[in-house]
Amino acid sequence: MHRDTNPTILITGGAGFIGSHLATELLQHGYGVRILDNLTPRVHGPERHRPGHLDRRAEVVVGDVRDPHRLREALDGADAVIHLAAVVGERSSMYRLEKYMSVNTSGTAVLLEALLDHPIERLIVASSSAVYGEGLYCSYNGTTYPKIRRSPDRTARGDWEPRSPEGEVIYPLPTPETKEPSPLSVYAISKYDQEEMCGLIGESYGIPTTVLRLFSVYGPHQGYTSPYSGMLTEYASRLLQGLPVRLFEDGYQQRDFVSVYDAVRAFRLALESPAAIGGTFNIGSGRPCTFRTVADLLAAITGRQHLTPEILGIGRIGDIRHRFADIGRAREVLGYEPEVTIEAGLLDLVAWVEAEIAGRRKVPAPIKALGSSRLRV
Ligand SMILES: NC(=O)c1ccc[n+]([C@@H]2O[C@H](COP(=O)([O-])OP(=O)(O)OC[C@H]3O[C@@H](n4cnc5c(N)ncnc54)[C@H](O)[C@@H]3O)[C@@H](O)[C@H]2O)c1
Repeated sequence: MHRDTNPTILITGGAGFIGSHLATELLQHGYGVRILDNLTPRVHGPERHRPGHLDRRAEVVVGDVRDPHRLREALDGADAVIHLAAVVGERSSMYRLEKYMSVNTSGTAVLLEALLDHPIERLIVASSSAVYGEGLYCSYNGTTYPKIRRSPDRTARGDWEPRSPEGEVIYPLPTPETKEPSPLSVYAISKYDQEEMCGLIGESYGIPTTVLRLFSVYGPHQGYTSPYSGMLTEYASRLLQGLPVRLFEDGYQQRDFVSVYDAVRAFRLALESPAAIGGTFNIGSGRPCTFRTVADLLAAITGRQHLTPEILGIGRIGDIRHRFADIGRAREVLGYEPEVTIEAGLLDLVAWVEAEIAGRRKVPAPIKALGSSRLRV
């Protein structure tokens, strides 16, 4: 991006969890921010109000990314686009196929068509680590397995760890961008569609494009129901109410929890780095962390160490076992370095959840009753 003037960045889906933090990050660094968001009730509640925590300086255009007229209006005067608008979550995508493909895939197609008549300096698309399916694994002799799926028969018996086709236990490795995508949900397919379409159209029409594959982003203003790290918000609120955390499987699943403050900095770095053009980058903390570890940390932070986690011993269809990022490429090309430790990030999250509970006097939703898709051991 040329920074001679104050470029205006259009953030689609900018009123959501990541978008609202991104707006603050960009405004603090001298950018103008416009948001196109339909304030979808699942995220914003039935009143569909502009979120109170969204920086007042951000201009909000209420509209659907699939509406070409609204989109063109929002694009007027924009120098770059960060595309976040999406229906988020893997599980519900398996029965709400049309919704996911419509908003995520068709919405991106409508955006790209609009960009053909509206040249911009940069397009950055928020993709997801979900495109990988399971992370990368290797056997003890170094053979790697980029396309592993767990057998439902095995997980039903509580045999949680993925195995090679020969049945031997294999071990998770940091997942690099070169791992072949292996989407295991309609959501993941739609995110991969977004990547592929933006890459192809970007290259064909000279739109400088970058893809960020976000891992599990967490932080204040993330709803309990967020399919990524909303469980951290939920764990914190359960503990604060004197209830134990409940963990699926045996709780030793590994994820890459990345603070939203680090994630939004990565977007800004991608916007500002000419070397990012045409690239795909993992954005995570680069450190694997089990659900048990985050539950223990949250128990310590909230002073509820006596509440030992309830291990449900239940696997859910479609859940992956381990996935965490190799962030070497983002480090090298974007100069991205995670700054928020998991301890500091969880402290911040707990402070926010405490304030929310105190302010709203509302008991957060319990873990949803498991549907017929669950597997019992
Ligand atoms: N949160 C994570 O950990 C994570 C991880 C990987 C990828 N991502 C991606 O990052 C992006 C933002 O995620 P988030 O966690 O902030 O989600 P979010 O649900 O909090 O925000 C999404 C925003 O998009 C808006 N939106 C939905 N449909 C729209 C439409 N048709 N038109 C206009 N706006 C629409 C919603 O109102 C909401 O404000 C998404 O593209 C998601 O796939 C998030």
